[in-house]
Formats: sequence, structure tokens, C-alpha cells
Amino acid sequence: MTQESAANQETAASAGAVIVTGASRGIGEAIARTLAAAGWPLVLVARSADRLEALAAELGGPERCLACPGDIGNWDDAQRIAAAAQAKFGTIGGLVNNAGVTRDGLIVRMTPEQWQAPLDVNLNGTFYFTRAVGPIMMRQRQGRIVNIASVIGLTGNAGQANYAASKAGIIALTKSVAKELGSRGVTCNAVAPGYIVTDMTSDLPEKVQRDMLDRIPLKRFGEPQDVAGVVRFLLSAEASYITGQTLVVDGGMIA
Ligand code: NAI
Repeated sequence: MTQESAANQETAASAGAVIVTGASRGIGEAIARTLAAAGWPLVLVARSADRLEALAAELGGPERCLACPGDIGNWDDAQRIAAAAQAKFGTIGGLVNNAGVTRDGLIVRMTPEQWQAPLDVNLNGTFYFTRAVGPIMMRQRQGRIVNIASVIGLTGNAGQANYAASKAGIIALTKSVAKELGSRGVTCNAVAPGYIVTDMTSDLPEKVQRDMLDRIPLKRFGEPQDVAGVVRFLLSAEASYITGQTLVVDGGMIA
């Protein structure tokens, strides 16, 4: 074990479990794997039980990693999962609000249902889990909340008004939570990824992908691991004086 990973394991062991939403694949799965390797006990959340339970078994089984299937856009599920996490691990050291969906379409053709879907999951889900876990962290006088936003929440994007609004909302929510909970030892930050190769981006037309690559100074798309490493940093002792920030992880795309 390197000195750094030994230090991380020490931090993790003393700070309780981390809840990661949307952990069954893509960026959330990479976050779960990275945090497990750093020694954090985990509570994994996603809609589908099968993939989640297989990953939880791989990352340490019932003692270290609990699978909690549920819908983050449902307040009862958020309360049930926060209570299960506390009952199992005692302390909740971190919350990573990662699960998210897109429902793309031009604003002039967008139905109210299409508009609502990303808000229900991305923004409401982040609120529900923060609302359920925040009081526990306040009582502990310790906790780290990391919200996965998007560069689209900073720049807007044609065809993604609903998604952009949900992610901009998450950035504003992040700053507000940081201001409310800071005096209780709880930090809250956002990570805004650019283009990351996952199921969410795999079906974008080739031309859109080529145009996007042209605009990325580092000349490659991001990997889930690029985001996971930043999340691990924000949960680590080294990040204890950072709160209310949005860290852009986009290869320089919106610089
Ligand atoms: P993905 O589509 O590969 O995975 C999404 C995960 O969220 C899955 O585990 C899914 O089960 C879960 N999920 C979706 N709706 C849920 C619900 N209602 N309840 C519980 N779980 C739910 O997506 P990806 O690419 O891994 O994205 C993860 C996060 O990163 C999302 O918030 C996304 O908006 C954000 N992001 C992704 C970018 C990309 O280029 N892939 C860029 C910027 C942000």
C-alpha cells in the first residue's frame, strides 16, 4: 500500500460511509470503484437491482458495500435509503448525487412532460437526498456532499433546455447548501463534467461528437475515471477548506 492510499484509508475509516447515486454504470460506477479502492464503505443507489447488487458484492459485500435500489426522484425512497445507510454504518461521511437523465428536444417542440423529467430526477433527486442526509451530517458535525452537475448547466445547450435548467439548478443548490451547512462542518461542492464517454453520450450523432472533439483543447473525450478522481479528492481530507465550488472537468472545452 502506498503512503497516499494508507492516508486515504485512514480518512475513510474515520468518516463513515458514502452514498453514491446512479452507481450501476458510467460515472457513478467509476466513482464507486474509486471510493471503494480508497477504503470508503459505500451505499450504492440506482433503479436496477441486478447490476447494483453484483457491483456491491464485488466491492466488498454486505460488510463494506450496501446495494439500495430505488428511484432518486422519489422522496420516500430517499428517506428509506438514508435511514438504511445510517442503520448499517452509523455515520454517513459523504453523499455523491450523481444519478441523472437527459430528455433532449428543441424548446419549441418540448412537451411539459419532457421538460419535467430531468428536473424530477436531476434536481429534485439531488434535493431529496440532500434533505434526507443533511440533518444526519449536521448532527455529526461532519460530512461531504458532492453534486454531479454538467458544463451544460454553465453554458446552456440547444436541444437541452430542460437538462441545462436542472444542472444550473444543481449548481445554485450547491452554493446554497454550502452556505447553510458550512457552520456545521459540512461541505457541499459540484463537479461539472464536459463530454464523458458513457451510455448517456454513446448515441450522439458522429458529427456532433466530431464537432465537440474539435472544441476540446486536450483533444480527447473524458473517461468516467477523470470525474471519479475529482470526487475522491473532494471527499478527502485535502479538500476540507473547499465548499460552494463547481469544479469543471472538461478537458478545457469551456475555458
Ligand atoms: P448513465 O446514463 O451512464 O448512468 C446514469 C445512472 O443514473 C445509472 O446508474 C442509472 O440507473 C441512474 N439513474 C437514472 N435515473 C435514476 C433514478 N430516477 N433513480 C435512481 N437512479 C437513476 O449516465 P452517466 O453518463 O454516467 O452520467 C452520470 C451523471 O453525470 C449524470 O448526472 C449526468 O447528467 C452527468 N454528466 C454526464 C456527462 C457525460 O458526458 N456522460 C457530462 C456531464 C454530466
